Amino acid sequence: MTLTRTTSRSRVDAPAAAPKLHVVTFGCQMNKYDSQLAEGRFRRAGYTTTDVLAEADVVLFNTCSVREHAEERTFSWLGELKRAKQSRPELVIGVMGCMAQRIGEEIFARAGHVDLVAGTRQFANLPGLVERVRAARAAPAATSRSARVLALEMDDAVAIDRSDERFDGGLHAWLTVMRGCDLNCTYCIVPAVRGRVLSYPIEHLVREARGFVEQGARVLTLLGQTVNSYGEDLQPGAGGSGRQGRPSLADLLRRLQELEGLERIRLITLHPAYVTEALAEALRDCPKAERFLPVPAQSGSDAVLRAMKRGYTTELYRRRMELLRARLPDLELGSDWIVGFPGESDADFAASEAFLAEQAFAVNYVFKYDPRPSTKAAEALADDVPEALKKERNLRLLALSERVALQRTGAHIGHEREVFVESRSERAPGELLGRTQHGFVVSFAGPAELVGRVARVRVTSATSYGLGGELAGAAAPGCPT
Ligand code: SAH
Ligand code: SF4
Ligand code: F3S
Repeated sequence: MTLTRTTSRSRVDAPAAAPKLHVVTFGCQMNKYDSQLAEGRFRRAGYTTTDVLAEADVVLFNTCSVREHAEERTFSWLGELKRAKQSRPELVIGVMGCMAQRIGEEIFARAGHVDLVAGTRQFANLPGLVERVRAARAAPAATSRSARVLALEMDDAVAIDRSDERFDGGLHAWLTVMRGCDLNCTYCIVPAVRGRVLSYPIEHLVREARGFVEQGARVLTLLGQTVNSYGEDLQPGAGGSGRQGRPSLADLLRRLQELEGLERIRLITLHPAYVTEALAEALRDCPKAERFLPVPAQSGSDAVLRAMKRGYTTELYRRRMELLRARLPDLELGSDWIVGFPGESDADFAASEAFLAEQAFAVNYVFKYDPRPSTKAAEALADDVPEALKKERNLRLLALSERVALQRTGAHIGHEREVFVESRSERAPGELLGRTQHGFVVSFAGPAELVGRVARVRVTSATSYGLGGELAGAAAPGCPT
């Protein structure tokens, strides 16, 4: 999305046509999903959405707080809008999401042209909050300051109401199955800004997923901070496979497997502590579920894992992955890593390298530890690994990750794989882009009609980031056109 500065002259009249909304989303996939939900609410309130920021009557920033850098980027984008606001004072600028929840009023102090700050469980109220800004502006002797609205209440009733879920076309749809996080990893801001876990009723999710598929979605990504703990907070009973008969991710997978037209189910993000035999069996029995699972290890040192309060040792992690691999022999894993956590010694870091190699993670995201205000680690532990060393460890782990990834992708050369074709390649005309069941991107020459279908592709080359191949067969029988 490009940020364009408006040059239009000041307009005092309210727009005659439907007001236009532009949303800028930072952060993780959950924010993308929430932006869609917010857009749905605005549409119902009579708005249209626009990709052109300069045309918008309302601009909303959906923000992330997980690292300092994410917040700074948002402030620099907000800064870019100052001039637009000067030339169009009727513009409404709102900040929602995790950073809004974390620092609330401070946003007004740092960006005086912001009108609205709304927390992570307020998105369904947003059109009403924008109206409150407008009404306050219309009051006698109103100032831009007096028209500001701050809404940070963690409103579960609003968070659970998804009557406006909407699919925006394309082959892929996000489905947030739970909100919040009940774990307390010492470095992490997410529980503070996203609140306690709230799983959605299984029937609601199946209905929503069916609606997406009926509208053309073929790939569904199930989202949760610990997506495999789905259902732990729901009422017991109901005959599910979770604790005391609660519905679980295993149950949800089995239900979604039945949806005709759905080709692939992706999961983001799993936690090793919630990997169960029931989940492994459901994954085995559901061929639509991808054979790639992101199960962040964060560190390969037990001392660091303890200080992070991750709730597992490397040995437990190993055992849980064995449980999965016993049922899914071709499983590929992904991981996130934090380098330079307080007290991380050379030996601790070496243990992370060894663990990455041992578990052969095919996809790795590496982050330098960043103390987040109010987290346990920031308050109790000195950020004692020098920045230069964090950087060096970051690069070393990434370099190792590339080598391991190449081994994983290289193992597919010479084999035929079922590939779900996602799009035409923008870079190479005549080429298509798809994904194997293991989540690897494959590019190959083929007709555009294959987009949205499953094709058999013979893998002929590999890099650390994906595969190249050639078409080996037509779309699998029974696949929708
Ligand atoms: N719920 C997921 C991760 C959510 S946050 C899980 O438990 O794995 C995404 C990633 O950001 C984390 O996996 C972690 O690697 C990274 N991260 C979170 N807080 C961080 C911090 N304070 N400093 C650096 N990286 C951090
Ligand atoms: Fe943060 Fe840990 Fe929850 Fe993931 S599991 S969101 S890292 S507290
Ligand atoms: Fe960021 Fe919030 Fe996601 S802090 S990573 S947008 S849950």
